[in-house]
Amino acid sequence: MELFSQNFVNATEQITPVKTTVKGNLPSWLRGDLIRVTFCKRFVESDAYKKAHKAGRPVYTEFGTKAFPDPTKSLFSRLVSSFVTSNMKFLSNYSSVVKTKIKIPAASPTTQACNIMRIEDEIFVSSETCYMRRIEQNTLDTKEKVDMHKIAGTNFASSHVITDDTGTSYNIGFTIFSGPKYHIMKRSPSNNNTGKDVWLNTRCITTLPSSWKASYSYVHSFGLTENYLVFLEQPLLVNVLRLATSQVKGRSLNDCLEWHPQELVKFIIVNKKTGEVVKTKYISDEPFLVMHHVNAYEVKGQLVVDFVAYPNCDIIEKLYLEKDVQEGEELVSVPNCTASAVRARKDSKGDFIQVSGMEIGETGMDMPTFNNERRCKPYRYVYGNGGFDQGYYKNAVCKIDTETGLSQIFKESEYQYPSEPIFVPRPFAAHEEDGVVLVSMVETRKDHPHALVVLDAQSFTEIARIETNEPIPTSLHGIFVPDGSGGY
Ligand SMILES: [Fe+2]
Repeated sequence: MELFSQNFVNATEQITPVKTTVKGNLPSWLRGDLIRVTFCKRFVESDAYKKAHKAGRPVYTEFGTKAFPDPTKSLFSRLVSSFVTSNMKFLSNYSSVVKTKIKIPAASPTTQACNIMRIEDEIFVSSETCYMRRIEQNTLDTKEKVDMHKIAGTNFASSHVITDDTGTSYNIGFTIFSGPKYHIMKRSPSNNNTGKDVWLNTRCITTLPSSWKASYSYVHSFGLTENYLVFLEQPLLVNVLRLATSQVKGRSLNDCLEWHPQELVKFIIVNKKTGEVVKTKYISDEPFLVMHHVNAYEVKGQLVVDFVAYPNCDIIEKLYLEKDVQEGEELVSVPNCTASAVRARKDSKGDFIQVSGMEIGETGMDMPTFNNERRCKPYRYVYGNGGFDQGYYKNAVCKIDTETGLSQIFKESEYQYPSEPIFVPRPFAAHEEDGVVLVSMVETRKDHPHALVVLDAQSFTEIARIETNEPIPTSLHGIFVPDGSGGY
């Protein structure tokens, strides 16, 4: 744990490219920007960053950051600024402000907050708030703020936004006034809009009340198939009252979360086109926690939803959508799948389908990624790392075969902490594994270089690495933006 803590140190900006050493055989087709942890790094100049810089301490409450009163404001306006400013500001991104960039094979940029995404030709970083920031890809300059409250009326939004192959993006917003509610947000392609205006065609297609009067489920990501959006109302709840008083009480967002193990997980399925919510209730057979969905798709009239679950790790849920079935009937018929969905006995909860998962791989994996060409479609391989877990995948990146359950590991030493792995397909790729996997390797030993490691995706072995003595900050998510095309 002592080594692990060395990942979290103060970072300074590194704007100009630094010299690196390339070893191995870097594929000639691998050209673009890996936007995450890099050899150039900049701070995302969010409102929270500017405020904190001026005040010398965090001013806005964030996921793991306890806020302190803004010395420039009165007590009343402190309270207001912490959770409802004049423009309904809520939380802001300060704790995740380091952005970095690795250009391959030359030099380039990256950024990080809770998440980073490419929408049309623009790069945005998101947090757990209603704000996003546009980032200039080449310079890493912080550009305009996107206010989802002004655009769509939400107080918060999920960190993860998913764009399907029609160019339509989805995410989940939250409001807490007049009772906590979830809002399914849909962004249509913007017809050549640029900058922050690519979000202007965003609207709410469905609003659902929370199952709890003073709490709502923490939702970090969700699943998306060709026709449906699936999100989980899970036992990790955001206490609205604690959140509203977080500033004066000195609480972080994390302090406002409550785990209710007596609650089960509700699978809420929404039609992407109509916004209609599937009326059948799908409820888990045990409580669990999900931060990251992997992928989701439809097969044989059923939904397959993959996510990383705690404490049970990887689970594949199969959800059958037909309604007229008999009590006790098994609804899952996907080959090689031990997941279950059974019509449960009617009780005080009413009629529902009880679902139980199929675990794949070993415990201790997070930051799941896959070949983005397979998004919303059947796929086979998941990549991930040990994240903050000290289990089977500690200090490693992995490739998990969802058909066989077998894991391949790439690990160098207990002194190195690999990033979220990012798959980059070879141009005109012939199959799902045809490409490379990029991994930023954070080194905790002094006098050892940090590295960007390039793995052959099929064999999951190293084919090249780019080394630098410049520190690489630990990161969460990243994207690869190939020269001249979309990001991964
Ligand atoms: Fe995330």
